[in-house]
Amino acid sequence: MSRKICIQLTIAFSLLLGFKTFAQEHIIHVNTSKPLAPIQSTMWGIFFEDINFAADGGIYAELVKNRSFEFFQPLMGWKIMKPDTTTGIEILNRHETNPDNPRYARITIAPGEPSFGLSNEGFRGMGIKKGVNYHFSLLSRQMTGSKVSMHVELINPKNEVIGSTRLTPETTTWKRSEVSFQATETEKKGKLNIWFEGEGSIDLDMISLFPEETWKNRPGGLRADLVQLLADLKPGFIRFPGGCIVEGRELETRYQWKKTLGDIADRKLIVNRWNTEFQKHLTPDYFQSFGLGFYEYFQLSEDLGAEPLPILSCGMACQYNTAEMVPIDQLDPYIQDAIDLIEFANGSSNSKWGKIRAQMGHPAPFNLKMIGVGNEQWGPQYIERYQVFAKAIHEKYPAIKIVSSAGPGPTGKNFEYASTELKKLNAQIVDEHYYANPDWFLKNADRYDNYDRNSYKIFAGEYAAHGTKTGIPESHNHWRCALSEAAFMTGLERNAEVVQLCSYAPLFAHVDGWQWTPDLIWFDNLNSYGTVNYYVQKMFSNNKGTDVLPIVMGNKPLTGQDGLYASATFDQNTRQIILKLVNTNGQARSVHVVLDGIKKEMNKGTATTLQSDDLTTFNSMDQPMKLIPVEKEISIKKRTVNQQLAPYSFSVIKIKQEL
Ligand code: AHR
Repeated sequence: MSRKICIQLTIAFSLLLGFKTFAQEHIIHVNTSKPLAPIQSTMWGIFFEDINFAADGGIYAELVKNRSFEFFQPLMGWKIMKPDTTTGIEILNRHETNPDNPRYARITIAPGEPSFGLSNEGFRGMGIKKGVNYHFSLLSRQMTGSKVSMHVELINPKNEVIGSTRLTPETTTWKRSEVSFQATETEKKGKLNIWFEGEGSIDLDMISLFPEETWKNRPGGLRADLVQLLADLKPGFIRFPGGCIVEGRELETRYQWKKTLGDIADRKLIVNRWNTEFQKHLTPDYFQSFGLGFYEYFQLSEDLGAEPLPILSCGMACQYNTAEMVPIDQLDPYIQDAIDLIEFANGSSNSKWGKIRAQMGHPAPFNLKMIGVGNEQWGPQYIERYQVFAKAIHEKYPAIKIVSSAGPGPTGKNFEYASTELKKLNAQIVDEHYYANPDWFLKNADRYDNYDRNSYKIFAGEYAAHGTKTGIPESHNHWRCALSEAAFMTGLERNAEVVQLCSYAPLFAHVDGWQWTPDLIWFDNLNSYGTVNYYVQKMFSNNKGTDVLPIVMGNKPLTGQDGLYASATFDQNTRQIILKLVNTNGQARSVHVVLDGIKKEMNKGTATTLQSDDLTTFNSMDQPMKLIPVEKEISIKKRTVNQQLAPYSFSVIKIKQEL
């Protein structure tokens, strides 16, 4: 080869290389002077459903399982100690006088017999903490002439006592007694033993054990560590109580909010629909005690500064199960439930339902603004029912926004039908759900770019990327899924004009009591942690901003060109420009984000990044903080943010600026 040809080839090759280098230098523009739309305070929120032991066995801090003997098997969760004696236990039923809590236990001790005891196993054990006070309580009555006392113990798996106390109820009529004692050891799999001593018979019900340490130290309250994880998300709303649990497998087991108010002893327990839903994950001891009921949901929303968003049954049981349906001319009680709920939340304390709220401890209204009609309903029967509800609710409460359902999937016949009909009916907010593989999330980052700006608003009410499921259940929350969710969420944020509420689902899972994966937060009886998906949600919700800014590369929104995704917002409160940048490539990408229209040059900002080269990485009980966001200061030159986006990374960049 001649020298000349060789030089020409070298130049051509260098040009090619140069071009390649240039091609990887991505120039992105943010127009800071043209906010596109306000971002609703409700943009990022929480979906709460009692699935995976989220309520009973989870956030509701009760440690005793089957405290009122109302499970299908009255002694499930209880073990009789020393049953070979003549002392005994009988389960009795007073249904005529107490239909909501009919069963109770009668303990009889014959003179001279050895001690007889009952042991409760808790929800896969009881989490006990050294130095913490525990409140043991129960409803009881001594039979005439009897004097039965109780020796109460917490024990560890070696049967060693790690806390104890005594209690001798005095009355012969039903009365609540309580005693407190301190635990001497920390134990994840503790149990509660109650030894009966003395003579005669005693009746027992609502046997309960709560830690004194609860969220805001409320007696009979919620697990503080789990609520704290929710508070850290700074959620804009809480959707409750589900999910499919709203609908019930059949109408009888739908969620009925009125039965979840008042004294916990009068809240009628029902089976949890997730008890039997999955053959591979049968959970026969899963019931709903409703200790966490609608009053507590509203209170939690208020505590977290989140808008309450109750979803109610629309008279259709789960269409995946029985699809039982209330005839349209018999819907009145269901509609009345919705109307009464608004009064319960917002009515004066002189109104029928507002009075109950006040009696429960909250005279001020909860300021409910939205209500959901049905969960994942579909087909003409839903549309028909939705219309009846919407008319009745708006006749009485025109300001309440109604959330309707687009069905269980984000595409297909049922989805198309629902969205066409709901559009015609001027629906206000439509709940769309997407559980799909990570590629779906990447491909759908532009889903809302062309949604009608003059039609209903979107509630992305349940979403989670479902990747390959191997290894321990916690590993289903791996980085590939979370990264694809981050990419997709830039699309939700870019379209905040249409998308006004979003929530990952499900929220919680007990490591020993789950039915569904992946989930946002995992916990055991003592500890809890946020998954990598949790940190993605947190990075969005903690850095929401108040206005969407246009962000483009080559005049187009970033929806996956060269594996890049982005959104931009401005926060009028902190005066910050906030960029969210996702690199889904296995190699770094160099980006130059030009902030067009800024008034003043600035030289620094912060970048908070969640990154791992390993897409199978996940947080776990053993390594709860394996992958968490890391913040660093960055410099900015001439109105341009020059960043090397690490492989498989999600970054939030914040720059303080007066617009
Ligand atoms: O999040 C779990 C379930 O998924 C919800 O209960 C239901 O709405 C959806 O199908």
